[in-house]
Parts: sequence; C-alpha cells; structure tokens
Amino acid sequence: MLTELFEKDKLRFLLFGGKGGVGKTSCAAATALWAAENGNETLVISTDPAHSLSDSFGEKIGDSIRKINGIKNLYGLEIDPKKAIREYSEKIKSTPELGLPIDIETDELEELTTLTPPGADEALAFAKVLEFIEKPEYDIIIFDTAPTGHTLRLLSLPDILNSWVGKLIKMRAWIQKMTAFFKRILGRGEEEDKTMEYLEKLKKTIEVARAELSNEEETRFIPVMIPEAMSIYETERLVRTLYEYEIPVTHIIVNMIHPEVPNCTFCAARRGMQIENLKIINEYYSDFSIVYIPLFPTEIRGIPKLKEFAKYLFEEEFTPKID
Ligand SMILES: Nc1ncnc2c1ncn2[C@@H]1O[C@H](COP(=O)(O)OP(=O)(O)O)[C@@H](O)[C@H]1O
Ligand SMILES: [Mg+2]
Repeated sequence: MLTELFEKDKLRFLLFGGKGGVGKTSCAAATALWAAENGNETLVISTDPAHSLSDSFGEKIGDSIRKINGIKNLYGLEIDPKKAIREYSEKIKSTPELGLPIDIETDELEELTTLTPPGADEALAFAKVLEFIEKPEYDIIIFDTAPTGHTLRLLSLPDILNSWVGKLIKMRAWIQKMTAFFKRILGRGEEEDKTMEYLEKLKKTIEVARAELSNEEETRFIPVMIPEAMSIYETERLVRTLYEYEIPVTHIIVNMIHPEVPNCTFCAARRGMQIENLKIINEYYSDFSIVYIPLFPTEIRGIPKLKEFAKYLFEEEFTPKID
C-alpha cells in the first residue's frame, strides 16, 4: 500500500513512471485525489507531452495551475514542453555575449552556444519542475512523468544542467573580468550583472532539486508496470537507473491484472501469461512493496472511477492468486 508513505510527514514528492499505457496517469491522478481528500494541499503535474491528466479528471487542466473542480486542496498542471521551448529560445536570443569570440575549447563552445542541453523538451520540463520544487504552499507534489526513456533523461538533467550552468558561470566570470578591464581603460563605472546572479541562483536551485530528489524522507519514485514481458524489461532498466541516480524506490505498482473469468479460454490464456510474469516480478522485486491493481471493466476516467482505483493503492490490498 502507498498509505505508509504518507505516514511520514516529510513526504513531498511522488513521481510515477513507466512504459506508455501502463497506468501512470491513472496512478498519479488517483494518488493526488486521495492525498487531497486526506488533508494535503496537493499539486499534480504532468510532464508527459501526451497529456492525459485532463482526460483522467474529466476536465481541462492546461499549462497554468488550476484547481480541480469539486475537490478541496487539489490542483493540477500540464507542462507544455513546446511552449517552454519557445519561452526558452526567447531567453537565449537575449543573451548576446554568447556570440563573442571566446578562448575556450571549440566543442565546449558549441555545447554552450547551441544551448540545448540534451533533450530540450525534458530540460524545459525539468526547468519548470524546479519552479515547483521551491513552492512551499503544497504539502505534496505528484509527478505524472513521460514514458521511461524520456524520464531517464529527465533524471540525469540536474547533473548535466549543473555542469552546463557551471561552465556558463565560468564564462561569464571571464567576460566580466574583461569588461571590467575595458571599463577601467575607458573610464566607465561598474554595472550590475543580473545574468550572473540569475545563473548562480539557477545553479543553487538545480543542486537543491537534485538533493531533494534523492532524499529518502521527501521523495519516492514509483514505477508502474503491467505483468507483460516488455514492461518487465523496461521497469528493470528504469529501476537500475533510479539506483544510479540515487532516487529512492521502495514501492512498485503492478496494474491491469486480469480477473478469473469462468468458461473463457481467451481470458484463461491471458491470465496464464500474466501469472507467469507475476511470478518473475514477485521474485525480482521481493525487497520492494508491490501494490497490485486489477483490470477494471471500464477506463479509469472521472472522479468516481479514480476513487475506486485509489482504493487499491491505499485501502484494500489486492493479492492475485498465482499458484
Ligand atoms: N486497472 C485498469 N483497468 C482498466 N483500465 C485501466 C486500468 N489502468 C489504466 N487503465 C486505462 O488504460 C489507459 C492507459 O492508462 P493511463 O493511466 O493513461 O496510462 P499511462 O499514463 O501510463 O499512459 C487509460 O485509458 C486508462 O483509463
Ligand atoms: Mg499518461
């Protein structure tokens, strides 16, 4: 059950991740709903370009924070990577010193001038995420992340961005020295440098975010999977990378477990396939808390369905029979 995570009052960030279609958004939305109904000021953020938080809640959310209708304490946000990229390019255009001939390694310069740290969309989603990590007004922030590959890149971004911002700071410092020199020669006064201040602040923020993401008291990444081979492989890869980045993982959700249906050979075959995979999952993740969710006869859309779904995450343990 995820309930035990909420018993520690320091929990602040829950991230759901996994392959497309396994139920990340449903888990994130249901968890957010439960958290809000249990008295937490809650923000649920989607960083998946294929947004479906709106679909899940049955109302338009969009790229600025919106209160979810009829639920106290619950807010949603869908970060739009394309829009963030546009905002970002505007910022770059207003940083003219990057055009200066500078005496640093060419590849370094290239890296700096293209100014698209690997995976611009993830970088921007992450930059946006940083804004929320600093927001003390929410008790719990829940992330509905993009499918595995994107998320893994997103997780490595604090390190990449930090070294990138670090280089930029060095470069600025050098430019400032030169500028100060010329100003002295030309007899002009010193001017304040806001860019430097901004970069230093950004570097701090990234460091704080990195620290928070790997803090066991505050953060959990919860992989969501289904009992199928492809999902097992992807989850293995995801969990390994989470370990590498020291992001705490203690719970795993196994979704869409087929019910027993009498007199249905098709259903029995699917169930049989799932049972074999469940055995593998149980063995592989024996050190984790595994939360199972049955396959519903309907989609998980709208508040009542999300509440029903949330029961399996927080109230009644569902244990599939596998032998
Ligand atoms: N346990 C379940 N039973 C039935 N349908 C489910 C279940 N979990 C998720 N779904 C449905 O499956 C689809 C994919 O789920 P979603 O949460 O959007 O996955 P993801 O965000 O990982 O792509 C959605 O239509 C959702 O309503
Ligand atoms: Mg989704």
